[in-house]
Amino acid sequence: MRIKSLHILGVSLLLLCFGLKVTAQIETGAGNSDFSIPKAEVACGPWLQAVTENEFVVVWTTNVDAAVWGELAPDDGSHFYAKTRPRFFESKHGRRLTGQLHRVKISGLQPGTKYRYRIYQQAVLLDQGNKRMVFGDSYGTDVLRSEPYSVTTLNEAKESVNISMVNDIHGDDPLFRKLMGNIQSEQTDFVVFNGDMLTQIESEKQLVDGYLQSTSELFAPDVPLFALRGNHELRGKFAHRFFDYFPSPNGKAYYAFRHGPAYFIFLDSGEDKPDSDVRYYGLSVFDDFREEQAQWLEQVLSSDEFKSAPVKIVFMHMPPAQRAWHGMMEVKRLFMPLLNEADVDLMLSGHIHKHSFIPSGEIGNSFPVLINSNDWRTDLTINRAEIAIRLVDSEGAVVNTYQLKTKQ
Ligand SMILES: [Fe+2]
Repeated sequence: MRIKSLHILGVSLLLLCFGLKVTAQIETGAGNSDFSIPKAEVACGPWLQAVTENEFVVVWTTNVDAAVWGELAPDDGSHFYAKTRPRFFESKHGRRLTGQLHRVKISGLQPGTKYRYRIYQQAVLLDQGNKRMVFGDSYGTDVLRSEPYSVTTLNEAKESVNISMVNDIHGDDPLFRKLMGNIQSEQTDFVVFNGDMLTQIESEKQLVDGYLQSTSELFAPDVPLFALRGNHELRGKFAHRFFDYFPSPNGKAYYAFRHGPAYFIFLDSGEDKPDSDVRYYGLSVFDDFREEQAQWLEQVLSSDEFKSAPVKIVFMHMPPAQRAWHGMMEVKRLFMPLLNEADVDLMLSGHIHKHSFIPSGEIGNSFPVLINSNDWRTDLTINRAEIAIRLVDSEGAVVNTYQLKTKQ
């Protein structure tokens, strides 16, 4: 009897010591490397995408494979920890996804409303498929020592809209940081990347190092971003992944939406040279793509939503035929006859690496075309009656301004 009690006591002590050791190792991550648990951390991001009146997508990457979610809170002055906040999982067709690039859609929102949000990730420690999956601890945005992220949904009723646009950065991250480092995030409704932010896209690392890390550090967790492709974003072995990182409101490369008094159309001008060019290796079919887009544009321009908007703005990387290269000639042939009949107020382009302002009528255009330089930022303030344009250099100096009356 006594021997049996001693045996039970010994086994209990052994289990207790083992348990304490395991607990200590898990908590500290120290000791036997078998017990160090990978921690899922944000590698890059987040950045806001596809913000509409009712939803948005938050995008970020993690250092290891992870399962993630976002949490939403109203901007009502309560602490984020005041109550359980609704979770929005990254999922597809009803099943949560795991990986290192994450896109969480947060929906069911009200127009013109500020919300707060945070993001969470949980490392995949073991994935044996249907046999066993083990996840690590959850790590999220620190809402104890810093403010949660925030987003304001689009709003047709807003009287005035502020936009900042850059283009043709070609991976010059120091220049990009100077251009975007002094935007006033609180007053900026959204930012537009109007193409050629890289010279080609060969990898995620190139996107991150070229401008995406800076994008998420400088403004994009709180300011919506709309990214158009330039001709250079169509090149490189990672180019086809562009919209995985920049999901658009309608899932296409071209899209449109109303915000404030303005209706915004984002057109994808495609490649600059003919599809047959040897440098495209037979992979370009942008003639067909532009034709398809022209059909979509015709529908958009005939919609009540477009026609009823007091202001009409078009973003497109390549301006309509300043050079007689195939791509620019095609956007002029396909898009301009439609746009010229549609009371467009302004087109904003890049591509040329030099600023110019093309008044109506100079290149078969019934509206002005502003081409932003590759080392300036274009800021716009739009209300029903006018569009104020400020061109800002990398030192933050306003180097040129334009004041346009709208056509309404
Ligand atoms: Fe370009």
